[in-house]
Amino acid sequence: QTVDWDADAAGKAGHDHYMHKEIHEQPHALRQTISGRVDELGGNADLDIDLDDDFLRTLDEIHVVACGTSHYAGLYMKELLESLVDVTVRVDLASEYEVYDGHDASQTLVVAVTQSGETADTLSAIRRAKASGMTSFAVTNTVGSTITREVDDSLFIKAGPEIGVAASKTFVSQVTTLALFTTYLGRLRGTLSAEDGADLVEHIRQLPNAVQSVLDAEPKIQRLAEQYVDSDAFFFIGRGLAYPVALESALKLKEISYVHAEGFAAGELKHGPLALVTENTPVLAFLNDAAAADDTVNNVKEVESRGAPVIGLSTPDETNSFCEHSIDVPELGRLEPLVANVALQLFAYHVADEMGRPIDKPRNLAKSVTVE
Ligand code: G6P
Repeated sequence: QTVDWDADAAGKAGHDHYMHKEIHEQPHALRQTISGRVDELGGNADLDIDLDDDFLRTLDEIHVVACGTSHYAGLYMKELLESLVDVTVRVDLASEYEVYDGHDASQTLVVAVTQSGETADTLSAIRRAKASGMTSFAVTNTVGSTITREVDDSLFIKAGPEIGVAASKTFVSQVTTLALFTTYLGRLRGTLSAEDGADLVEHIRQLPNAVQSVLDAEPKIQRLAEQYVDSDAFFFIGRGLAYPVALESALKLKEISYVHAEGFAAGELKHGPLALVTENTPVLAFLNDAAAADDTVNNVKEVESRGAPVIGLSTPDETNSFCEHSIDVPELGRLEPLVANVALQLFAYHVADEMGRPIDKPRNLAKSVTVE
């Protein structure tokens, strides 16, 4: 007697798509990313980094090179680093990265953020940086990947394998690893106090449960996706740490649903994109970051007065009653936008699913792009 065995269905463990499974794996992936790396008492991150401490203490510039979702993880780190550590950060799309003459490479760390460790544009950018004399570092999911053999040192995000072409769980693990690195660097350089370091690592520690609470709201998010699936376009707006998340959320939606989606810095809407806004273009607004929320409220009002339906993402106690719809995100300091991103992964997933798209393998895209 034989038993029918479908390896593909078994791999999806009851989910319709790998992407859905991987979105739901995020609390687990995060626990792996964080495990053994959080020093709560010392307000520090416990990372196995071989780069010279003296170099890390004195470097004055960090260049981040990355593509796609990894580039947005790099932008998130820039916001963290520049607010917590005394260092200038430049984030480039790897394919656009140039090293200019006269740059002091000896005091610069170049960081490649790459899930696969095989992206040709990122490898090529790292080679240009190394040729100019920079110290190089990789933040990757893939042990033994090409990037790890080319850089001076690597830090692994430990998210586990990701099958869906569009990144999901690896984004949250990348940003978390970069937040740990920010903590480490800030403490080493003395710009991050033990108290502020403890706040950040406490938020990192709470991430898996916070993400789970957003996953638990999936039925509501699915209903919103079904309600708006026929829209002309979707816009995502955020400020500060929520800006890279707005970009990432829009990328996710366009990758898997093929609908027009754009992320904008909330304050930039009035300088052009507002012309695109109609009653048939939902706007998803990140109102999480308490400091930035007030300004974003004004931007929400700008789009509402043009008739656009607004889905606001905020902590439950922040008033977002002026938004047509709201999605609750637990309070989590600088990591709140990262948690909000999970809600919009589910939103993108359900829009694409409603449209019957081949979610795990979108047309024209590859998991790892090994040509420049
Ligand atoms: C491809 C994938 C994207 C990914 C990008 C960078 O374009 O489709 O999802 O973000 O490569 O990949 P990496 O492995 O370098 O993070």
